[in-house]
Amino acid sequence: MAATTEQEPKLRGDSAVDPRDDKRGPKVRAMFAGIARKYDLLNRIISGGRDQAWRKRTVRMAQLKGGERVLDVCCGTGDLALMFHRRKPKPIEVIASDFTPEMLVIAKQKADKAGVPLPLAAADALHLPFPDASFDVVSVGYGVRNFQDIDAGLRELARVLKPGGRLAILEATPARGLIGRFANWYINRVVPWLGNVLTGSRDKAYSYLADSIQLFPDANALKARMEQAGFKDVRFRKLNLGTMAIHVGVRD
Ligand SMILES: C[S@@+](CC[C@H](N)C(=O)[O-])C[C@H]1O[C@@H](n2cnc3c(N)ncnc32)[C@H](O)[C@@H]1O
Repeated sequence: MAATTEQEPKLRGDSAVDPRDDKRGPKVRAMFAGIARKYDLLNRIISGGRDQAWRKRTVRMAQLKGGERVLDVCCGTGDLALMFHRRKPKPIEVIASDFTPEMLVIAKQKADKAGVPLPLAAADALHLPFPDASFDVVSVGYGVRNFQDIDAGLRELARVLKPGGRLAILEATPARGLIGRFANWYINRVVPWLGNVLTGSRDKAYSYLADSIQLFPDANALKARMEQAGFKDVRFRKLNLGTMAIHVGVRD
């Protein structure tokens, strides 16, 4: 019998959606629709008020050059897209896309309130309704983990980027050691409890968060998969004691 060194991650088994199901798109959409109204509040609470700073850093690492076109995929309630609007040098256009209409409604309300144009596209990240080489920058905040097929999703993001364009990914990453044990406890015990209490979500959306992080590639593995999907000069920066990472790669 062949020896195996890789341990299967231990999943909770009670989450709204099985993160191993490659046909989970409609279930993921329904889950995010159910928590859309409380999503921002939960983000602030779960991250201890740090989530906006991590988005800001993602925008900084994308290194806007001025007059560029930006696409924020899996935009949710629009925070990352709106930060690109505020960043100098200014992009010429920021488009936000997501496949959950309930999230897009909130993104639109925020853009209207901020008085900035934010064209929205209701679209699956794996089938974007844009021609090849349309954007200078593509960003994804906490979205890649939800892709039904991570490699197909990365290739689709590469497709809509111009050669030399940058992809910036902000994502939770499985942590190891003592920190990893604490992070696992927090994400498996505290977050699902908080999520279910505050959103009234009976479908265990915040258990899915825990399980999907367990299955997500670590920072080095994600870098390798970005390279395979057509990105070069991929670098990453870990945040929050290694439980979060920002990857940036250049479309070859
Ligand atoms: C965890 S939220 C992140 C929202 C936002 N980017 C942020 O920084 O908070 C994930 C979002 O990705 C969207 N999403 C998940 N899978 C998707 C897919 N395949 N195509 C488009 N949107 C997707 C969900 O609808 C949800 O709004």
